[in-house]
Amino acid sequence: MKNIDSYTLRKMWLDFYREKGHAIISSASLIPENDPTVLFTTAGMHPLVPYLLGAKHPAGTRLADVQKCVRTGDIDEVGDDSHCTFFEMLGNWSLGDYFKKEQIPWSYEFLTSEKYLGIDPKRLAVTVFAGDEDCPRDEESAQLWQECGIPKERIFYLPKKNNWWGPAGTTGPCGPDTEMFIVADRDDCGEDCSPACDCGKYLEIWNDVFMQYNKTADGKFEPLAKRNVDTGMGLERTLCTMQGKKSVYDTDIFVPILAKIRELSSNSDTKAERVVADHVRTSVFIIGDEKGVTCSNVDQGYILRRLLRRAIRFGKQLALSKGDLGKIALTIIDIYKDVYPELLEGKDKIIGEINAEEERFEKTLSTGMKEFEKLVFYQKGDTISGKAAFRLYETYGFPVEMTVELAKEHNLKVDVEGFENAYKEHQQKSHAGAEQKFKGGLADHTEAITRLHTATHLMHAALKKVLNDEGANQKGSNITEERLRFDFTFGRAMTPEEIAKVEELVNEAIKANAPIVCEEMTVEEARAQGAIGLFASKYGERVKVYTMGEFSKEICGGPHASSTGELGKFKILKEQSSGAGVRRIKAILE
Ligand code: ALA
Repeated sequence: MKNIDSYTLRKMWLDFYREKGHAIISSASLIPENDPTVLFTTAGMHPLVPYLLGAKHPAGTRLADVQKCVRTGDIDEVGDDSHCTFFEMLGNWSLGDYFKKEQIPWSYEFLTSEKYLGIDPKRLAVTVFAGDEDCPRDEESAQLWQECGIPKERIFYLPKKNNWWGPAGTTGPCGPDTEMFIVADRDDCGEDCSPACDCGKYLEIWNDVFMQYNKTADGKFEPLAKRNVDTGMGLERTLCTMQGKKSVYDTDIFVPILAKIRELSSNSDTKAERVVADHVRTSVFIIGDEKGVTCSNVDQGYILRRLLRRAIRFGKQLALSKGDLGKIALTIIDIYKDVYPELLEGKDKIIGEINAEEERFEKTLSTGMKEFEKLVFYQKGDTISGKAAFRLYETYGFPVEMTVELAKEHNLKVDVEGFENAYKEHQQKSHAGAEQKFKGGLADHTEAITRLHTATHLMHAALKKVLNDEGANQKGSNITEERLRFDFTFGRAMTPEEIAKVEELVNEAIKANAPIVCEEMTVEEARAQGAIGLFASKYGERVKVYTMGEFSKEICGGPHASSTGELGKFKILKEQSSGAGVRRIKAILE
């Protein structure tokens, strides 16, 4: 195998597809736009769903990129040789352009040509779709692989469970796929050994999806007007193969991170080291994302909190000291700064947020652990009650998933449903008398959050007016049921008069009771209409624009109130510094 590092692999991928007439697009944000089905971008195709469903992409019908992705479904597996919660996906797309007979020979060329990966064809195996009532057996792909030189005995036909791909949500574009594997030099694990088993003989590195259907909410497969190709190659896994390593944690991306962790720690434990490396890396990308997530108890902020608290807990096993996670984060930023410049730009914010979360958790962690041990000591039966788990959450900040993990170490279970009920009950109690209706669940968009989100738009517009465009560009936004928090660029503290003026403008806009209108358009159209907001999208991606009377026009995924009059009275509680050149406002609706 050629020993290829991460920089070379990214470049090789993009060069290959550029030569095949593809436009190279930038990685989209990790936070999906307009998609309530998932919290993070989970695959390269995710930000492209509107185009895969037929919208025109201004960059053309052939696209390629390297996309940042987060998947936390297998968080418990992190620490083994291959699982990571963050990864990069190399991808290419045909939007109604080429199909199987181009893509399969290209895949073969990229994998085996000396100019590219140069993998010995004898070490390749592929799988194709075996066929069922939704879609016929994929003889065409099998035939194309044979023409490339893959012998019949290394082409495996597998069912939908293995050879079908759709996005992480339950609906959307999907279709049969063909997957490519590196075959390890070892015996079959048994008679039925195939790429479908996880004995370690076959390592998947690339997936070519032939999208022909849109899966609808009622479970039907509607044929797409135009057939697409969507492919994804895992960067970390491919590096692992090319560098001849047993684990992704031994590749050029992780070596400096683990070296830093070992330098800072006084104990050694492979799993704990890998968990810290993985979770801090994912946190760096989430906080450093152009959409600016910080820790909270809902949605992406909750996942971030869970990752950081888990890293802190595993860091204890390594005897890491306070502030060490921030030092590890600096190493991570350094590794990625040329590929993802947003990490370097957001360095202070990333380190600040990691240190702040460490501070918050440290305050209660050791008392919480004592409390947990007491709980285990007095525990009767094998299940910790929902109430007890809620107390650990409420008083000591233990994410329920962490309590479940700790319990498992003592062969105990946790009544998670009971926890959720206790959580909801608490929400209702603490808001008794207020008008909010809580729909329940940790990740729901409540009406309170929606209203505060709308107020954030009004305040953003008011800040721009009052501060005379001296800045006031959004740096981050975080909303809980109680308050909004908004970070924006501005070089000095606001005066009390300026703060009062912003409040006044927002309250006037609320009084005007303007309808809130949502329209879809390309990012260029939005810009031409003077919409503000995060212009992370490139090349005319379609975006939603929310207009609130004459007052505010902003690119945003929503949701929002239907008119400004629904908000109540707006009040700024605090204006303070949040790093160099960045101010932070906390505000509420009374
Ligand atoms: N979207 C496909 C995957 O993630 C390529 O495997």
